[in-house]
Amino acid sequence: MTSCNNSAREGEAIPPVARDVHSWSNPAQARVRHLNLNLEVVFEQQTIRGTATLTIQQVSKDAKQIVLDSRALQIDQAEISPDDMTYREARFSIGKKDPILGAPLKIELAPDTKFVRIRYSTDPTATALQWLRPEQTAGGMHPFLYTQSQAIHARSWIPLQDSPGVRVTYEANIKVPEGLKAVMGATNCPDAGDCHFVMDQAIPSYLIALAVGDLAFRPTGPRTGVWAEPPVVEGAAAEFSDMEEMLEAAEKLYGPYRWSRYDVLVLPPSFPFGGMENPRLTFATPTILAGDKSLVSLVAHEMAHSWSGNLVTNATWSDFWLNEGYTVYIERRILEELYGRRRAEMEAALGYQDLEDELKSHSAADQILHIDLAGRDPDDGATQIPYEKGALLLRQIEETFGRQMFDAYLKDYFDHFAFRSITTAESLAWLRAHLFAQNPKLAAKIPLDEWVFQPGLPATAPKPASEAFAAIDSQTGDWMKGKKIETSAWSTQEWLHFLRGLPQKLDAAHMHRLDSLYHLTDSRNDEILDQWLLMAVRNRYAPAYPKLEEFLTTVGRRKYVKPLYEAMNPQQAMAIYEKARPMYHPITQASIDALMAGKH
Ligand code: BES
Ligand code: ZN
Repeated sequence: MTSCNNSAREGEAIPPVARDVHSWSNPAQARVRHLNLNLEVVFEQQTIRGTATLTIQQVSKDAKQIVLDSRALQIDQAEISPDDMTYREARFSIGKKDPILGAPLKIELAPDTKFVRIRYSTDPTATALQWLRPEQTAGGMHPFLYTQSQAIHARSWIPLQDSPGVRVTYEANIKVPEGLKAVMGATNCPDAGDCHFVMDQAIPSYLIALAVGDLAFRPTGPRTGVWAEPPVVEGAAAEFSDMEEMLEAAEKLYGPYRWSRYDVLVLPPSFPFGGMENPRLTFATPTILAGDKSLVSLVAHEMAHSWSGNLVTNATWSDFWLNEGYTVYIERRILEELYGRRRAEMEAALGYQDLEDELKSHSAADQILHIDLAGRDPDDGATQIPYEKGALLLRQIEETFGRQMFDAYLKDYFDHFAFRSITTAESLAWLRAHLFAQNPKLAAKIPLDEWVFQPGLPATAPKPASEAFAAIDSQTGDWMKGKKIETSAWSTQEWLHFLRGLPQKLDAAHMHRLDSLYHLTDSRNDEILDQWLLMAVRNRYAPAYPKLEEFLTTVGRRKYVKPLYEAMNPQQAMAIYEKARPMYHPITQASIDALMAGKH
């Protein structure tokens, strides 16, 4: 077998690495630079097994051991080699398991060790993996497996240094059952047969991704396309037909797309997130296939990560806002290019509402962009705050310095820090030196430290105002009084705003009127349906309960299901969760388990 990159940038200077409280690894002593995976996917036993060969660099002369992250991995053997040809057995030990971090895997090195080969297998409880039975897929005939590595789940399927500050290239051979297709966030092979996957650009571990199932491909343009199960792929290609144009819009703003292809993999509905920006192959929920492109902002978001996140990466999970805040800002700039300012402002206004809600429900410490996550699961930091507060800060900078200056600044920022993982401090220093210093008078209007290190929003924070939404607000009172209002031209975003703007408590007559006029229980748009089901639960609107149960037992997107369980009374929640739980990804299961424990 050929290996593309085994010498892993030998001789190249090793970039410094930030201290990461969510990794046991020791990249300042010995650093993983390249991974070579030889794995087999065994559905019957719900395991991935084989070898991971790590190309390492000994950073300090007395490294003696390399420390990797692991969670519930069965480690059968570790070997070391100076040349990837002759291997000898190495001593290894697995340290004490931490409930959040998993266990350190320590492997003894010789002074000349350049390669470490680990024979291992994953456990059925691996937190990154969801194993789907055929009936949980669209086709219904074949099993399905997919990974979700962010934030610290890669360690549950690969032994590696699982810190966003450590970047690796990789290659992989994945053996899968006859008739199934494997895809990765790497170069893919659209034709049938085995694929030697290569990712020759250095990425953080949380972006390593694999999916296996009955998958088909449809192009949407020269560089873009869709992977999905056969019954879904045509619809998905139609829904995402603007993808090529999106990519061009993003490039015009922020410089060349550096990852060759941009494809989207549409997963079964249990996928716990809306989307995941795995390089070259975004993983996405099918709940965005509304039939009218109204939910494609998610694709703009994941695509935007090709600059903010994948090119310039948060060095630790405390710097997560650098990934998500920048990405939300860029997502809306892309939407504006494609669909106009009115649409982008509606999205911004919806985001602002989300932010106001989140600020009410989080402690002061958790409202800080540069959040302290020591001793906590980094997923706890994934609230609307890094997303929407982060985006609002960038919006203030844009409005203060003007688009021309800010766009040029961002383009240069992505270029300068490309393929690097940076801390909040580094990003702020760069901002001060390369934008703020150009006009200190303007810079003085932006309370940067307050934005990043204080809770809440600065008094001068911009407040997105949507004219389209103002027009709806002026009609809501009329609707409540029983008057007919004109809704035929409303977009999904306008519907969402209208529904959110109604009083939280609605009597049965109002709920019935909403449903009979607008057929909300039958909505084919999951974003609208989710909003409606939440109102149904809050107002005990029983005609929607069968739909509620159907939704919760098929869709595992955490953003939808969590608020629904929260709003339900304990009996109703328990009864549905008992049926739905086996359907959910371990990440959603963990969130709802915790919620249920609190409901007892
Ligand atoms: N990278 C995130 C998803 C994520 C964050 C996974 C933290 C695990 C830990 C992705 O880019 C994202 O933000 N997805 C959003 C959609 C987006 C349109 C806001 C989601 O899944 O809801
Ligand atoms: Zn994101």
